[in-house]
Amino acid sequence: MQSNHMILDFNPPFSSLKEEVLMGLRQNQKQLHPKLFYDEKGSKLFNQITTLPEYYLTRSEKEILTTFHSDICAFIGHNSPLIELGCGSEEKIQLILESLQRGNRYIPIDISREALNNTVEKLLDSYPLLDVKAIRADYTQALSFLCQGSEEKKVILFLGSTIGNFDENDREKFLCQLAKNLNPNDGLLIGIDLKKSPRLLEAAYNDSQGITAAFNKNLLHRINLELDANFQVEQFTHHAFFNNVKNRIEMHLISNTVQEVLIGNETFSFLPGETIHTENSYKFDLKEYEQILVKVGLCLRKVWTDKQNYFAVTYIEPL
Ligand code: AVJ
Repeated sequence: MQSNHMILDFNPPFSSLKEEVLMGLRQNQKQLHPKLFYDEKGSKLFNQITTLPEYYLTRSEKEILTTFHSDICAFIGHNSPLIELGCGSEEKIQLILESLQRGNRYIPIDISREALNNTVEKLLDSYPLLDVKAIRADYTQALSFLCQGSEEKKVILFLGSTIGNFDENDREKFLCQLAKNLNPNDGLLIGIDLKKSPRLLEAAYNDSQGITAAFNKNLLHRINLELDANFQVEQFTHHAFFNNVKNRIEMHLISNTVQEVLIGNETFSFLPGETIHTENSYKFDLKEYEQILVKVGLCLRKVWTDKQNYFAVTYIEPL
């Protein structure tokens, strides 16, 4: 590989798929972490989701990045290295790079080697001189590693409202960790999904083509394939609803019947109607969001929204 696009394989002490799955399914409320969605098939299904008519999130965020790109780039600055947590799509980063100098260093961090390869390859097609250093790691654990030393201004990108996947505690811990790794001039560009009518939210996670359902169930296929398990996937039903109290979309897989599933040598029993909780996707109110940031020593400097006010891209600095 050439020196301008290396992939650094950083092996942090995060638990294996098997430990992760067994731990989750041993809970009273069975649960599987949403990061487990993204095997190769899952990443493909997610890309499909982003183009669905009901799934407004990606379109709204791209609209914001397009409409306000010169303003956004003015905040970022023309030489700042861009560290992206979870390289969702090369299209979004292109929208940003478009008006920056080719000299910006781009450092995507993702747990999926395929996702990294893909992004890096496509980006280098458009920007052959781009200085890319990809890091394969769980980004919650890669932060301190990548922020060591340098005094030059850097900007960390966390787009796609992935922050919505964290519950209150993890979100606070994560933001604290980010804050700790920022120098006074550094910035954070975070995409969040805004509160809106439950009807629109629920439609976005229950698309008419059933792609979200397939995405949710793919988790069980993945576990069957990778962990020698025997989920009967057709005996589970996709369920997504807005939890009004917690302000989040919850995705579950509901067991259709009484059944047992074997993973390795451990048996898991399901009652009819019992669920595996697979994802939370929090929806934010800008006032509350600002309070969350202030609490961890961060300052909301600028908010851009789409015309419909569905989504927000926010620029944040240390207080
Ligand atoms: C990638 C976490 C932003 O919560 O909307 C899409 C994932 N799940 N449809 C989201 C997802 C179901 C997505 N995030």
